[in-house]
Amino acid sequence: MATLRLSALRKTYPNGFTALHGADLEIADGELIVVVGPSGCGKSTLLRMLAGLESISDGELVIDDRRVNELEPAQRDVAMVFQNYALYPHMSVADNMGYALKNRRVPKAERRRKVEETARLIGLEDLLDRRPKQLSGGQRQRVAMGRAIVREPRVFLFDEPLSNLDAKLRVQMRLEIRRLQKRLGVTAVYVTHDQVEAMTLADRLVVMNGGRIEQVGTPMHLYERPASRFVAGFIGSPAMNVLDARLEGDSLTLPCGTRLASPVPSPGEAKTVCLGIRPEHLSVVPEGDAIDGDLSVRVELVEPLGADTLVHARLEGQDDPVVARVDGIRAVAEGDSLALRPDAGRLHLFDPETGQRLDPLEPECQHSTFPA
Ligand SMILES: Nc1ncnc2c1ncn2[C@@H]1O[C@H](COP(=O)(O)OP(=O)(O)O)[C@@H](O)[C@H]1O
Ligand SMILES: [Mg+2]
Repeated sequence: MATLRLSALRKTYPNGFTALHGADLEIADGELIVVVGPSGCGKSTLLRMLAGLESISDGELVIDDRRVNELEPAQRDVAMVFQNYALYPHMSVADNMGYALKNRRVPKAERRRKVEETARLIGLEDLLDRRPKQLSGGQRQRVAMGRAIVREPRVFLFDEPLSNLDAKLRVQMRLEIRRLQKRLGVTAVYVTHDQVEAMTLADRLVVMNGGRIEQVGTPMHLYERPASRFVAGFIGSPAMNVLDARLEGDSLTLPCGTRLASPVPSPGEAKTVCLGIRPEHLSVVPEGDAIDGDLSVRVELVEPLGADTLVHARLEGQDDPVVARVDGIRAVAEGDSLALRPDAGRLHLFDPETGQRLDPLEPECQHSTFPA
């Protein structure tokens, strides 16, 4: 059981490169926090600082009201699960899982009991005598998790633990990790570059970009109210469409001449903005039924996915095609001219220079506080 508090946590590597520019975050007891962002944004750096595997250049890390900046990894009572499993090849599954307990001089009988109990919990009871090389990737990852669980740490840290598994196993394991974490009630920080994995696992998400935290919030908050163009593009798949537009008074005008009601009135003179519309918030209307505010497009590519279909279409005056996610049974063909109707209540506006959302966010989306 543990709470964590990161205050202005900063990492500058010995070569002078700053990989983390002051991170602020509070993590509640039993919470599953997922840190997500593109490769190189500083996720592993942050996690390794929590684990004590990287020194903290500035700021403060507090676990359960105690500053731990100077504590060795073993003293922090955290357990880390890595992408490459990091198992001892010459030891059996049971010995790998019990290794930390042996180091702590836990008596043999108790060690055995704990290892067997954990093995049952994660479905490894029949594999305890095997060596890691006699296991599949999924089983090895399970051993790595078992090894963390046996230690009964205050915090679990996961660094892209499923990246080496195939897609189907990844889906299964991520459900299992969430179920286990909730059952054990252990606070966890999970790092991934996969936004779907992040959305499905997290109580709250931390989106990182270039060594900075861009936004913290529940998956649905980030989906509905992304604080920046970066978060908008990173959360949700296919990515949000971003169109150039001119905001004047309470209306938006696109380069093709279409006018829409703006979700945010312009404070002063007319300005250029980025209008974000998610593919699932565009619906297809026959060309003859189009009304003001519908986008007249020409279909370039149709991708049937079964349950739904992705329509890639050309809108005059925009460089990138607009993507709409429509019903799977919808008859749309390449070359069709049709209208796409945006869901008026779900438009997003961003500043083209700073990338920041134009309408103010509710407090819980802005700051790294606990969910309401
Ligand atoms: N030991 C190091 N010395 C200098 N730069 C590093 C070191 N480790 C990582 N970096 C740099 O810090 C940045 C963040 O790395 P990392 O935390 O591994 O990113 P992520 O896990 O998000 O892919 C990268 O630009 C990386 O090259
Ligand atoms: Mg990494």
